[in-house]
Amino acid sequence: MLSSRHSPAHDKDGSLAESQLVKDDAEEPAEKRMRIENLGENDPRIFSTDTSSVDCMNSEMSTFSKRQLKRLRKKEKWLAYRPIKRAKEKLKLKQKKLHARLNNVKLGPSRKELKHSKMSQSNCKVRVAIDLSFDDLMNDKAIGKCIKQLLRCYSLNRRARDPLQFYITSFNGRCKTEMEKHTGYINWDVNFHSESYTDIFQSNDLIYLTSDSDNIISSLQEDKVYVIGGLVDHNLYKGLCHQIAQEKGISHGQLPIGEFLEMKTRKVLTIDHVFEILLEVTAGKSWKEAFMHVLPPRKGAVEKAETDEVLGRCEVEEEESTSQTQLQSNIDPL
Ligand SMILES: C[S@@+](CC[C@H](N)C(=O)[O-])C[C@H]1O[C@@H](n2cnc3c(N)ncnc32)[C@H](O)[C@@H]1O
Repeated sequence: MLSSRHSPAHDKDGSLAESQLVKDDAEEPAEKRMRIENLGENDPRIFSTDTSSVDCMNSEMSTFSKRQLKRLRKKEKWLAYRPIKRAKEKLKLKQKKLHARLNNVKLGPSRKELKHSKMSQSNCKVRVAIDLSFDDLMNDKAIGKCIKQLLRCYSLNRRARDPLQFYITSFNGRCKTEMEKHTGYINWDVNFHSESYTDIFQSNDLIYLTSDSDNIISSLQEDKVYVIGGLVDHNLYKGLCHQIAQEKGISHGQLPIGEFLEMKTRKVLTIDHVFEILLEVTAGKSWKEAFMHVLPPRKGAVEKAETDEVLGRCEVEEEESTSQTQLQSNIDPL
């Protein structure tokens, strides 16, 4: 069974990890803190006319660091702008529908219709599990980000015509507590398991996805379970998922990014981006199309020219990786 505490290869006593994670939330030095007794007196968004509550809020806010204040203001701005943005989006959608109706253009299934696609009725049988056993390696902020990425995976899957068979494993501890903030998740069309993926699936069926693997995945197989590490670590625990797969004797593989794209940065993607790529490929897109669509511009991904040199390299990797993954296009049916 997978323990909820993984020890990274480069940091046996955990001291590096702690210090680096704490740094993320580090307070600014006291002298840098802003005294703001008079700040915002004319700001109706913050202060009411009740002077006692003003005093109270002033004293509370005086304990905020500059960075916290900046975040607070940014959040307020966003909350004020949100309804305007929603209204703009609604209007745009209305115009699009009207244009389609007038020009006899078929828009495809609506978002509402797609929400009714259930995993049980999906033509896609590829299983994807997000392994949430990394609670102890993330601070609160990282846990929050991890759950946000999971929410996005869910939302992408429920809008897909043929959703992936979606599992969330080791669903307990802090990740579960964070998820509980989102009431309604209980009704999601997702298989939640408190146990580890190793307790749920046959180990022969498992392929742990990791950018550190030497095995290049070229096709997704319906009899396999692709495990994504539910870890937001900003590269702190480089190679950890690869190490875990090796220790457990599980197959592992990386997405074939290098086969199609040149990247400015490392090929480590976020949980939701990996999920989205898998979803798009099972829906019939090529790997290249999926990468180009999903990867954010900051990754600096550029299509590789299909020179003989590149094709030659693919063939070599094909031979090396056939023991773990078969090189074919898109999904291999059973
Ligand atoms: C932010 S990454 C975590 C990186 C972590 N240091 C590790 O050891 O994998 C989240 C997960 O996305 C998946 N992932 C990210 N990039 C990938 C890639 N290029 N190929 C395959 N899986 C990838 C892996 O499952 C990984 O655990």
